[in-house]
Amino acid sequence: MDIKQLDEFAKEIIFEAGKNIRAAFSYNIEIETKSNPNDLVTNIDRETELFFIEKIKAFNPDHRILGEEGMGETVNNLKGVVWIIDPIDGTMNFVKQHRHFMITIGVYVDGVGVLGYIFDVMREDLFNAIAGEGAWYNDSPLRKLQPVKIEEAVIGINANWVTPNTRINHEKIIELVQTVRGTRSYGSAAMEIAFVVSGKLDAYMSMRLAPWDIGGGVIIAKEVGAIATNLDGKDFDYLSKDTFLIANPSIHQLILDKYIEEKK
Ligand code: IPD
Ligand code: CA
Ligand code: CA
Repeated sequence: MDIKQLDEFAKEIIFEAGKNIRAAFSYNIEIETKSNPNDLVTNIDRETELFFIEKIKAFNPDHRILGEEGMGETVNNLKGVVWIIDPIDGTMNFVKQHRHFMITIGVYVDGVGVLGYIFDVMREDLFNAIAGEGAWYNDSPLRKLQPVKIEEAVIGINANWVTPNTRINHEKIIELVQTVRGTRSYGSAAMEIAFVVSGKLDAYMSMRLAPWDIGGGVIIAKEVGAIATNLDGKDFDYLSKDTFLIANPSIHQLILDKYIEEKK
């Protein structure tokens, strides 16, 4: 397989999809809810996923697509070439803020991540990686992450996890929040991952993410030395939902050991 050619093709369709999404603001965006009133989807999420499926199948009909909106085939394993796609990550930002939403894609060959993309649609900013060759931000190489002390770290975390909840001991998270230099919450997992791989955040965690939220980002993470696991410190489960922590390598284990206590 010609990885460079695949990379060029992926970038081309990501930029085209981005252009289509930006144009969508000039006509009606139809908003629906999915699993709960805060789980949003729009006609643009679906149209964008369909756009990718059509383009990828025309490029190579053997490639399979695991997309958030489920418009491709059912994917139960990662054999062959699988594109893991979130057509819009941060749909709430898309409908409410008209910014801070990403297209994110990971291309896997027999379960191994080879190409990763996070594209900030409104800023037209691309974070991408080719496994083993490096990672880039708009064509400038991303550097390996430098060590950071926990007291100087800025972490991405949703405010829900410092309130009593069923998934995690929030007292420990309060301790974490009080220890670090600052916290941020951007409303797009892919954006927070893009910020960790480029050193704008030092960690990001979530209690429940899907493969398409992180499938592109973890490939970029590897190239800069960021560590991405679930909250048990194991590999993320790509065929279901899982907890997630991506961090600078100097604080990843410390966060798991000292501040994470899951309720199971
Ligand atoms: C969501 C965003 C959000 C994260 C949610 C995801 P969506 O993705 O990444 O930041 O907290 O868990 O589901 O639904 O906007 O693609
Ligand atoms: Ca998502
Ligand atoms: Ca989405």
